[in-house]
Amino acid sequence: MEPSILKRKHSNLSENQNSDTLSQDPKDLKNETSAKSPKDSDQKQVCLQGLDTFSDEKKFLKFLKSNFPEDIKYEGIIKKKGKNFAFISFETLDDKTRFEQYLIANKVSSKNKKLTIKPAKNSAFHNFKKIHTIQHEIEQNTNRVFIPKQHEIDYELSISIQKKVCPLWETPYPEQIEGKKKALLSILKFINTNARKNLKNDENFPKWLKNDICCEIEDFIASENNEKNPIFYYRNKAELTIGKNYEGKLNVGFNRGNFNKGIMWIEEAKDCPIISKEAIEISMVLQEFIRKKLENPPAFDRFTHIGFWRNLIIRQSNITKEIMVSLVVCDKDIEKPALEVLKLELKELFLSMKFPQDFKIMGILMLFHNEVSDNVPYNCRTDVLYGVANYTEKILGKSFQISPDSFLQVNIPQCERLYSLIGKAANIDENTIFLDICSGIGTIGICLAEKAKQIIAIEVVESACQDSLKNAQNNKITNFTYHCAKVEDIIEEAIKPFVGQGKIVGVLDPPRAGLHGSVIKKLRTCKGLDKLIYVSCNPTAMVENLMGLCLPMNKNRKGPAFSPVKCYGVDLFPLTEHYECVMVLERLYDLE
Ligand SMILES: C[S@@+](CC[C@H](N)C(=O)[O-])C[C@H]1O[C@@H](n2cnc3c(N)ncnc32)[C@H](O)[C@@H]1O
Repeated sequence: MEPSILKRKHSNLSENQNSDTLSQDPKDLKNETSAKSPKDSDQKQVCLQGLDTFSDEKKFLKFLKSNFPEDIKYEGIIKKKGKNFAFISFETLDDKTRFEQYLIANKVSSKNKKLTIKPAKNSAFHNFKKIHTIQHEIEQNTNRVFIPKQHEIDYELSISIQKKVCPLWETPYPEQIEGKKKALLSILKFINTNARKNLKNDENFPKWLKNDICCEIEDFIASENNEKNPIFYYRNKAELTIGKNYEGKLNVGFNRGNFNKGIMWIEEAKDCPIISKEAIEISMVLQEFIRKKLENPPAFDRFTHIGFWRNLIIRQSNITKEIMVSLVVCDKDIEKPALEVLKLELKELFLSMKFPQDFKIMGILMLFHNEVSDNVPYNCRTDVLYGVANYTEKILGKSFQISPDSFLQVNIPQCERLYSLIGKAANIDENTIFLDICSGIGTIGICLAEKAKQIIAIEVVESACQDSLKNAQNNKITNFTYHCAKVEDIIEEAIKPFVGQGKIVGVLDPPRAGLHGSVIKKLRTCKGLDKLIYVSCNPTAMVENLMGLCLPMNKNRKGPAFSPVKCYGVDLFPLTEHYECVMVLERLYDLE
């Protein structure tokens, strides 16, 4: 089989052609004179920050197209190489609003960096490059053939699927934990070095900044490494991609290679040590089925964006033994009758499977995703081929209905220990008003509700809020209320009736990329909220948020500062480098 030789769109225009004068910092643009009055146009424009500095306008346009819905229309963009920000002008205000909402709901990031939006006041409007001009430049040079270098292919081939998905799979478990403790310790050090850099000489150093680390690691909760709390095959969710391997064989499994170098193939899932055995079995059965169809219809090609089969997502509960199978497809090029036949065949295929330990399939779903982006959007069009569009999970004895797009921790035995730890760190009792900030389907609050006076959940995604209410009702939790809104818009209002009614403690479990500065500002100025438990699976992103919450008060940092007082680690992701960090923050006021 030939190495992947992919036709890539490429422009031979010089990177600097048509470049315009752009200041170093987006803030500086406030002072630039503009050809067009900002008043009529700046409402349709934003400054997007946190971008890859290597991208120019052509690459940035491709990024927009593959990460945001196709129907959002742009008028023009400014993105210079070397800058980590871009200006976007939308065709309508509605396009801009949908763009902002999509960014928040889907946590769009660039190279693992969270993207943030700022208003583009007085920006250099005359410098916007029209989208159709950029599009034309891209299309002018469509036929350049991108040939990956052999050594790049050899390198990618040399990495096993186990190593790619679970880099620590051969490391003894105690060593994995030691490595994670060290990583957490270096984050605690980094918090202090970073804080010192952020403080001006005349600012008072808070007590927590006087040492090398901001606080001690109180405990690091490792998996028990037994049948009930294993380090292998522990994931309750497998998200697999459908595509060809290096030899051109169709596989259902994991991405290998390097998309940016034009090397991309899919390795089958059977040797992956962390997804469940049931998920592996289902993936192998589907793989066999698609192979027998001789690519009719074909798998979705991420370079040409043509094809049908995209992803297989298997979610399951190892407690209730319920399984939900979702197939993500692109149906824009398939005839309706052929699709209907396929649906019946797939239903029969999965229902004919027999699983050990009474596992049963509760729902078989087909999710339609016709856009370029790999991220399956929330609430995408769904057909239920069999059963129902959810399954039941149990956490700390409480039942939760899990929908295809619900957020749920992937390792339930360790999740239970994480939630118990949150309760302990919050000192939760019958006098506690417990704020579940970024609550998703309400799992943390509901699991701790019986110990608290009141649970107040805040979550921006409507369907997740509805699920949280159902979950509270199903568990007969009566002290649970939710606000479906952005934290930054509602937190003061949500908390007001409870100030003076008890001890208010918040748990904050944000998306992987952390929270936008505006949310942090609101949390900091929120009166009555003196204790926060910050839970993060990405401690590096947490550091930036901690700067906003914990550095001393000044004209940009309003509200008394929180102090990091305790820190815990919980290993929810054995065999990988990831873990959850639990940081206890308290306002110490004059004790500081
Ligand atoms: C990592 S999930 C955590 C969910 C939940 N705490 C749990 O543990 O199951 C993060 C949640 O934050 C929500 N979110 C992100 N930004 C938000 C904002 N500004 N306001 C409200 N919710 C937000 C997302 O929709 C998502 O459901």
